Amino acid sequence: MKVLTIVGARPQFIKASVVSKAFVVAGVDECLVHTGQHYDENMSAAFFDELGIPTPKVNLHIGSGGHGLQTGRMMEALEGCILDEHPDWILVYGDTNSTLAGALVGAKLHVPVAHVEAGLRSFDRKMPEEVNRVVTDHVSRLLFVPTAAAMDNLAREGITGDMVLRSGDVMFDVALHYASKADRESKLLSRLGLSSGEYVVATVHRAENTDNLDTLRSIVDGLLAVAESRPVLLPLHPRTAASLSASGMRERMEAGLLVTEPLGYLDMLQAVKHAAVVVTDSGGLQKEAFFQRRPCVTLRTTTEWIELLETGWNRLVPPTDGESIVKAVDAAWGSAGTETDVYGDGRAAELIVRSLTELDAR
Ligand code: UD1
Repeated sequence: MKVLTIVGARPQFIKASVVSKAFVVAGVDECLVHTGQHYDENMSAAFFDELGIPTPKVNLHIGSGGHGLQTGRMMEALEGCILDEHPDWILVYGDTNSTLAGALVGAKLHVPVAHVEAGLRSFDRKMPEEVNRVVTDHVSRLLFVPTAAAMDNLAREGITGDMVLRSGDVMFDVALHYASKADRESKLLSRLGLSSGEYVVATVHRAENTDNLDTLRSIVDGLLAVAESRPVLLPLHPRTAASLSASGMRERMEAGLLVTEPLGYLDMLQAVKHAAVVVTDSGGLQKEAFFQRRPCVTLRTTTEWIELLETGWNRLVPPTDGESIVKAVDAAWGSAGTETDVYGDGRAAELIVRSLTELDAR
């Protein structure tokens, strides 16, 4: 059996790291294709090195662009690649433009698509990720669904049956797999002079937060106000960096916050593990905070990971309200939610690979 896996953005490299290892163990021929959506060293190559992900067989070098341009170029290039490789399955992760492009091309070429992280919904169709998720789920043949809530979302859209599998969350596998390596190898705290339990780590990169300057300003104001009483570490995504520089906000931000380049996975794992509070608009980081049992403040009005709201580990704050950000960080500081095993047992990757091989054997 041959599986053609499509990755392109940082969170997909992280997810693929454990699934690719499970493919090797199972003796499955995996052809890894990188769309090139993320291309900076610290957004891409660094993750392949650190997480021991095999070098992609193909890199399409698509790069940045508007949604139509970026997705269209990916589709054109992926079509040729899939026709060359003749895979039995196409595997896509998450909700990025690389996910959508891979799923659409696979469906049109009648190559079955398997979607890891299926069924998640924010119910906000203005988020590009929501559009990507919905379309990908509806054209995929096999859906690996992380949570019960995501199973319900799919059922409401008429997607049920034995090709919809509750798998648990591969990001939990990754967090467990690399925990001790991160403890051993990351020197982040000493490098930055941070003390465990005494700082906030924040990330901001969602288009709806970075591209609207009023929203970005209120996030900057909120984080600067938080930083008056404790250190705030902000590893800066290139999209956010560009927006801050273009709007003249970057200097003010850098004067008050501990701003760094994007961190590698192991450093980020440590940054979260030792933070008092995580503030983010990322989907993945909301869960990573929970995996380390850290409280999270999410700078969005919706989330796909509703279990973390229900269990009290996470709270949503409108990013347009700087004062609420400060209040939410104060409330989260020292707080804890209730326990849940909603993300599975850390063996999602194994289940994914086993399901694909069993289906192939039928
Ligand atoms: C993408 C995903 C988002 C995911 C995120 C993880 C879509 C629609 N969005 O958002 O779901 O959470 O990746 O990071 O697919 N850029 C660089 N260097 C890079 C990558 C990006 O400078 O290596 C800059 C470019 O200016 C680019 C901008 O970031 O225009 C946006 O990049 P893009 O990949 O389109 O979206 P992300 O914001 O990274």
